[in-house]
Amino acid sequence: MHCREILLTVWVLMLISTSEESCTSRLHITAIEGEPFYLKYCSSSPEHERKTTTIKWYKNESHGPVDLSLRSSPRILLRDYVLEFWPVELRDSGSYFFQMGNDTHDWKLNVIPRTKHSCFTEKRVTSKVVEVKKSLQIACEHNYYQQLVNRTVLYKNCEKIENNKNPFLKNAEYKDQGYYTCVFFLRHNGKLFNVTKTFNITIVGDHSKIIPALLGPKIDEVKVELGEDIQLNCSALLNEKDVIYWHTPGNNKSDPNVHEGNMTRIRTSEGKWLASRILRIKNISTRNLNSSYNCTAANEGSTSTKSFLLLLKEDTVDIPGHVFTRGMIVAVVISVMVVCLVTVGVIYRVDLVLFYRHFMGRDETLTDGKTYDAFVSYLKECQPEHGEEHAFAVETLPRVLEKHFGYKLCIFERDVVPGGAVVDEIHSLIEKSRRLIIVLSKSYMSSEVRYELESGLHEALVERKIKIILIEFTPVGDFSFLPQSLKLLKSHRVLKWKADKSLSYNSRFWKNLLYLMPAKAVKPCRDESEVLPVLLKT
Ligand SMILES: *[C@@H]1O[C@H](CO)[C@@H](O)[C@H](O)[C@H]1NC(C)=O
Ligand SMILES: *[C@@H]1O[C@H](CO)[C@@H](O)[C@H](O)[C@H]1NC(C)=O
Ligand SMILES: *[C@@H]1O[C@H](CO)[C@@H](O)[C@H](O)[C@H]1NC(C)=O
Ligand SMILES: *[C@@H]1O[C@H](CO)[C@@H](O)[C@H](O)[C@H]1NC(C)=O
Ligand SMILES: *[C@@H]1O[C@H](CO)[C@@H](O)[C@H](O)[C@H]1NC(C)=O
Ligand SMILES: *[C@@H]1O[C@H](CO)[C@@H](O)[C@H](O)[C@H]1NC(C)=O
Ligand SMILES: *[C@@H]1O[C@H](CO)[C@@H](O)[C@H](O)[C@H]1NC(C)=O
Ligand SMILES: *[C@@H]1O[C@H](CO)[C@@H](O)[C@H](O)[C@H]1NC(C)=O
Ligand SMILES: *[C@@H]1O[C@H](CO)[C@@H](O)[C@H](O)[C@H]1NC(C)=O
Ligand SMILES: *[C@@H]1O[C@H](CO)[C@@H](O)[C@H](O)[C@H]1NC(C)=O
Ligand SMILES: *[C@@H]1O[C@H](CO)[C@@H](O)[C@H](O)[C@H]1NC(C)=O
Repeated sequence: MHCREILLTVWVLMLISTSEESCTSRLHITAIEGEPFYLKYCSSSPEHERKTTTIKWYKNESHGPVDLSLRSSPRILLRDYVLEFWPVELRDSGSYFFQMGNDTHDWKLNVIPRTKHSCFTEKRVTSKVVEVKKSLQIACEHNYYQQLVNRTVLYKNCEKIENNKNPFLKNAEYKDQGYYTCVFFLRHNGKLFNVTKTFNITIVGDHSKIIPALLGPKIDEVKVELGEDIQLNCSALLNEKDVIYWHTPGNNKSDPNVHEGNMTRIRTSEGKWLASRILRIKNISTRNLNSSYNCTAANEGSTSTKSFLLLLKEDTVDIPGHVFTRGMIVAVVISVMVVCLVTVGVIYRVDLVLFYRHFMGRDETLTDGKTYDAFVSYLKECQPEHGEEHAFAVETLPRVLEKHFGYKLCIFERDVVPGGAVVDEIHSLIEKSRRLIIVLSKSYMSSEVRYELESGLHEALVERKIKIILIEFTPVGDFSFLPQSLKLLKSHRVLKWKADKSLSYNSRFWKNLLYLMPAKAVKPCRDESEVLPVLLKT
């Protein structure tokens, strides 16, 4: 039904326009420079009479009429009733007249320049008014040039409408308002021309009126503080001519602290208006409390009102300036303290962890089924220049770790029975150990200990069952001789032995070593003094 109406309208419009537009009956005609253009005489006499009478086209020049048929220009074509311009130019402006027997007709042609930076010329627009929600149709059809049209493009406000179907058809919304320009591309004598046709579409609302509706609750309780500045926002959905206004208590318009703002509004897609009006109250005093500020939206027929009631904030946590300042100071102090604690925690991490282990009596060695706390790997070639290193591994380490701290070490010289399958035995001993302590020196990577290292690395990297502790006994400096994979271990940390400073049990060296060793609850027998040098000169 609706659709049929549209089709009928379109058909009627097309019918009217074909008979009206394809011949030019108006006296004053406007054309756009650069576009193809034509004048067509509206003949009332039957077709066959044309054959017997001669047709002449003239243009009135300042020195009198000029017969256009005598003027040969490829740009101007005479086709019986029609005068065509390919294209029309500014100098074509003027009076034209047509003569056929006793019938004449004249036109005044005004050729106007193209508008720069625009796809259409405002003087050549056809205005159309469309009611919102009714169908908006723009048919890009040209009655005269239709046969020649190669391509048609539709623009809205000079922006191309992509994927446009011809005709353009939709239910009108407010945002559809604008200039629609059809551009017809024509070919003539191998040249491409374009003709434009622009519609000025205005969308108008339906004329039904709504009762103004205020947004929000009927009574809005607003919590305020004394001395504060507030804004009351009154919004309503209403008709175009409706208004919003405020009543202040006692209608005191002279109160200098109360200002009524201007009404602002935007159009909704349904053609109504969303309007709002602000009431600003500065420096709230007790005078403003417990009274209602009413806002009314009204039109000729109806009004609706809502109240804003200003109430004092009940549990006013009033923060006076000095309290605020103090609060800020406390906050800053606390932050600084937290930062300090974190820093101290990072620096004394080892001590904290050791303290914690001691305090909690933590023991991670009970359930893993391993025999030794650490396997000590060291250079076994007992040459005089490695003497101190050897002594450290086989004497100092066991004395401190075993006797003083209660760990159980596995030391090759001491614990491996000579004569067996050494390689297999080392492997199984490493498997039974929780840590691999490597006493590093420049000559460490001899073939004999390489196996211990590789076996331990396999356990550490692949099985993740052992952790490696590196002790740099003599300064090594360059660790590039160590396998690359050792660097992948997160826990690969090198402890530096500092002959003088590392003597005491309380020194950083031993603390760090204990930190890297598994937590163990065994109480050592404290048979030696805390400060007794652990490295006895031999
Ligand atoms: C139409 O033709 C004119 C020249 O006659 C040109 O300036 C204009 O860009 C063309 N319009 C389009 C949309 O191609
Ligand atoms: C053009 O010239 C013809 C003949 O001189 C005259 O009849 C006509 O009125 C003129 N038309 C205009 C528009 O000046
Ligand atoms: C044109 O007008 C003349 C006299 O005004 C008349 O004799 C003649 O028949 C007319 N011709 C036509 C075709 O009407
Ligand atoms: C287009 O229509 C609007 C609204 O009717 C009008 O304000 C505007 O002047 C029109 N523009 C032209 C170029 O006619
Ligand atoms: C438009 O012109 C181009 C090139 O001349 C041609 O390839 C195309 O088929 C034409 N399109 C139409 C719809 O006539
Ligand atoms: C008032 O409220 C309306 C609707 O919620 C909103 O559109 C408008 O921006 C508000 N005005 C101010 C100044 O906050
Ligand atoms: C606001 O409206 C309430 C009732 O809704 C009324 O009691 C009060 O007096 C009104 N205040 C003003 C300032 O008009
Ligand atoms: C109106 O406001 C003025 C100025 O603030 C004040 O002096 C006067 O008392 C107010 N009147 C009422 C009725 O509130
Ligand atoms: C309200 O509108 C008037 C005139 O329309 C203007 O002079 C005034 O500056 C506006 N006030 C505000 C707060 O926008
Ligand atoms: C706010 O009002 C109080 C009295 O109600 C007054 O003492 C104070 O000076 C005012 N402050 C400002 C900033 O106007
Ligand atoms: C406002 O009303 C509350 C109770 O609703 C009352 O406690 C308070 O004293 C009143 N404040 C003023 C300024 O009248």
